[in-house]
Amino acid sequence: MYPIRRNRRLRTNEAIRSLVRETIISPNDFLVPLFVVEGKGVKEEIASMPNYYRFSLDLLEGEVKSLWSLGLKSVLLFVKVPDNLKDNKGTEAINTNGLMQRAIKAVKNVCPDMLVMTDVALDPYSSYGHDGIIENGKIINDDTVEVLAEMSLSHAQAGANFVAPSDMMDGRILAIRETLEDEGYTDTGIMSYSAKYASAFYGPFRDALDSAPAAIKDIPKDKKTYQMDYSNRFEAIRETEMDIDEGADIVMVKPGLCYLDIVREIKNEVDVPVAVYQVSGEYSMLKAAAEKGWLDHDAVMMEQITAIKRAGADVIASYFAKDVVKLLS
Ligand code: PBG
Repeated sequence: MYPIRRNRRLRTNEAIRSLVRETIISPNDFLVPLFVVEGKGVKEEIASMPNYYRFSLDLLEGEVKSLWSLGLKSVLLFVKVPDNLKDNKGTEAINTNGLMQRAIKAVKNVCPDMLVMTDVALDPYSSYGHDGIIENGKIINDDTVEVLAEMSLSHAQAGANFVAPSDMMDGRILAIRETLEDEGYTDTGIMSYSAKYASAFYGPFRDALDSAPAAIKDIPKDKKTYQMDYSNRFEAIRETEMDIDEGADIVMVKPGLCYLDIVREIKNEVDVPVAVYQVSGEYSMLKAAAEKGWLDHDAVMMEQITAIKRAGADVIASYFAKDVVKLLS
């Protein structure tokens, strides 16, 4: 039909572009990951994640208030566990006075309306840096699931709104849902890391929590027996549908950028909200390129976040959340 249809008419100036724009980013899109450490007065930068920090509980309170004032209303908590509290079974994970349990209360104390989600997996508590219990060189599924259910219950008891199992054990969503129901935590939600790939993009996160899989004889060196093979697509749909059947309220695809095909496919397939985790390595890559002056940090950040939402993300977990919201305002 050219030239009756000239597509450039809708791109003539910012007014018309903004009028027909399909994907709009707002503070409501974000879930902010927070790293928590023991101690007092600690705000330490993570070496491989420039301008991202671990906070002790006292300073976490100020950070949470500042997020709230920016319109960021949901956080996802991770804890860095001291080495002497780590073991194979993740015993510390169910300590009712553990760092995670205290962190949940600290956030709720300064900001009762902040939505608190917690990471549920054994790796920060495991002396081997794995998300499951190890026996004879293998990650044992069902015994791990029992601990994950207890861990979830203890987070709910401490006041978490949602638990977010990131371990990829089979059957954990059902076990967690049943435990929460049995104990009366019917309103505690589950955001399942449903399609979580075995990815090299998690490197900086493992620095942040000192949780990399151990290089010890007879201990698996990677997470490929539980996290998904990045060559697979159908498997992501199967994992996600099973988690919904087991009771997941929100499902997730992780990492983000390399997996937007999966995000769109799942978004088309399911009727629950889909979260996407733009992971640590994605954050660090852009920070490094920007530091070198090779990429325009803010422009690339917005392009990436918009692409994630355009692909179908209802929720975006991102270390850029604060930067994005400040840029928007
Ligand atoms: C722990 C967990 C990981 C991430 C979130 N939860 C690391 C892993 O599975 O090894 C990665 C997040 C990131 O890289 O930003 N189970």
